[in-house]
Amino acid sequence: MSSDVVFSPYDYAVHDDPYPAYARLRDEAPVYRNDELDFWALSRHADVAALFRDNTRLSNANGVSLDPAAWGPGAHRTMSFLALDDPRHNRLRSLVSRGFTPRRVRDLQPRILELARHHLLPALEAGEFDFVADFAGKFPMDVISELMGVPEADRDRLRELADTVMHREEGVSDVPRAAMEASLNLVGYYTDLLAERRRSPTDDLTSALLAAEIDGDRLSEEEIIAFLFLMVVAGNETTTKLLANAVHWAHLNPGEQAKPFSDPERVTDWIEETLRYDTSTQMVARTATEDIPLDGGTIPEGARVLLLVGSANRDPRAFADPDRYDLDRRGEIPLVSFGGGTHFCLGAHLARLEARIALTEFVGLVNSYEVDLDRARRVHSSNVRGFATLPVRVESR
Ligand code: HEM
Repeated sequence: MSSDVVFSPYDYAVHDDPYPAYARLRDEAPVYRNDELDFWALSRHADVAALFRDNTRLSNANGVSLDPAAWGPGAHRTMSFLALDDPRHNRLRSLVSRGFTPRRVRDLQPRILELARHHLLPALEAGEFDFVADFAGKFPMDVISELMGVPEADRDRLRELADTVMHREEGVSDVPRAAMEASLNLVGYYTDLLAERRRSPTDDLTSALLAAEIDGDRLSEEEIIAFLFLMVVAGNETTTKLLANAVHWAHLNPGEQAKPFSDPERVTDWIEETLRYDTSTQMVARTATEDIPLDGGTIPEGARVLLLVGSANRDPRAFADPDRYDLDRRGEIPLVSFGGGTHFCLGAHLARLEARIALTEFVGLVNSYEVDLDRARRVHSSNVRGFATLPVRVESR
């Protein structure tokens, strides 16, 4: 198949709207090669879903981002189990799962609701606010801090550190100095928290990770810190973007917006359709450990490969009328928004729970809202899709 399609995840036009480029890739170059940036990209749902499950021919060991700057400082970057292959990945994930259980997440529900209200109520009172700065950008990090047992007095500071860690400059392969310093400060904070919990354990996740054991095997202090750091990197910005994307797309589709507002049970459909239609993590990277023959070309051993999640979710080969934002589609096909296979998102249930609680609260308190599209600003990022600023005007019930 020959095509003149050019795709770069660093292209600002792609950040504004990647979907036309994805459509061309799926149709004209499903096994796409970018010589200049030295990567391959897969855009069809069938390929992305299959290769997420293929942990033999694809490795996470060189990280899951095309941009090497996207992850924190040395040791904690390499020890993050997202960037490890099995069996090392499986050992760490199994130990962490002893502490990070579905039950622990369920038990957190009342606190998640309190945290949502804590940020949402003053914003709604004001009538006009920035949905990102005043709510969606604060709430997920506070939930993570709650889970870990970070005292309330420290949470504003941790949120600021996490924001700085995630601040990156596109196409620049060095981690910005401020981000590096913030990473070290975050690691320093968690080191102190661990020491404190070792002295006097409580019922938080940090204490549970210290106690986690399988056949005498335990997590080292560095491994626990690497995981705490991974939660901040993987579970904070992604959830922020999901919430604001939901509010944005519902505003642009008034017929769909009406559904959760007239029946709060439909909030779940709102979340699932947003995860499909415009998901926060648009792509992940892998490295091929051997030649991978596919329909449309062969990816050679050693190649960097992008799995274009955002494109897979809009593939007409998998979803009927995929460019329509439609809350009535009830999971015909499994989404790849949380990945798949051995690295399937460990926080998917937490992300869905947070979103359900926050958006149910929003539709319960708000009669109607409008987004100020002229002042809304997207983040420019190679793999994260969502808003840096989303000004809204609400009419409360
Ligand atoms: C992995 C997406 C929220 C923790 C992943 C992966 C994706 C993803 C696509 C797979 C990456 C890969 O295979 O390379 C998302 C999205 C979220 C979200 C879209 C929100 C809408 C969260 C939350 C947490 C979390 C709230 C925890 C607090 C993790 C962890 C992994 C992961 C620990 C690594 C799993 C492993 O390597 O075994 N996530 N995530 N995520 N996510 Fe999430």
